[in-house]
Amino acid sequence: MNANETLIELPSDLCPQKMPHHVAVIMDGNGRWAKRRGLPRIVGHQRGVDTLKELLRCCDDWGIKVLTAYAFSTENWGRPSHEVEFLLTLFERVLRRELAEMMRKNVRIRFLGDLKALPPSLQAEIAHAMEETRNNQGIQFNVATNYGSRQEIVQACKQIALKVKRGEIDVEDIDEQLFENHLYTQGISPPDLLIRTSGEMRLSNFLLWQMAYSEIYVTPTLWPDFDREEFHRALLSYQQRERRFGRIKEDD
Ligand code: IPE
Ligand code: IPE
Ligand code: MG
Repeated sequence: MNANETLIELPSDLCPQKMPHHVAVIMDGNGRWAKRRGLPRIVGHQRGVDTLKELLRCCDDWGIKVLTAYAFSTENWGRPSHEVEFLLTLFERVLRRELAEMMRKNVRIRFLGDLKALPPSLQAEIAHAMEETRNNQGIQFNVATNYGSRQEIVQACKQIALKVKRGEIDVEDIDEQLFENHLYTQGISPPDLLIRTSGEMRLSNFLLWQMAYSEIYVTPTLWPDFDREEFHRALLSYQQRERRFGRIKEDD
């Protein structure tokens, strides 16, 4: 979307000036969604993809510039191998299938995480999608895949330590900005709003550094049922928050 286009169907109770720039989502509850219907967990993951597609479309329509979705954590390798394999194959298939649509919608896709540990065929698909969409000017869509905040922070420390060791930087040069430049999210402003579905009140190793001041919204709705109305509710809640960043209101 460009600045001259009007926002499509932005609900009238949402203030266009107070929309979050960056929304992050922990897409949780696929397994429970399927289980409640007597279906295998993987069906929940399949439905979850549709939810994500719809959310991306909605963010684009409503003028949100960055969407980051947690697709696979460094801890998710601990699930049964058939589920892990299903998920990794699903990502590959969806990426291949959706690339043309992402190009049409001007989406710039980026993957966050330790991508080298992913199957080579998925890595190739990821590299292709990032390269193809690199110059797109529309919504930035980040997919955290084999992502874990602790791993991200440790690899940043290692990169920085190596630069100090080689004499490329001094210890005194290390500040928050330099540190951020070594995270997977380099160049991406921190999330303004985090949404977690399925009612769990935890971060599960997601963007720990980046979410120091994000507003958190948790809904009991399971991810496959998360729709525009739910997103609308999350945004309404966000717009009622007072983001103080440790300060106090001027008239207090
Ligand atoms: C989230 O749904 C998707 C991934 C973690 C890949 P879950 O698979 O965690 O679903 P629940 O939490 O077991 O219901
Ligand atoms: C978080 O969900 C990871 C993703 C959504 C990819 P989990 O289902 O893995 O988190 P826990 O185990 O409930 O903390
Ligand atoms: Mg879960």
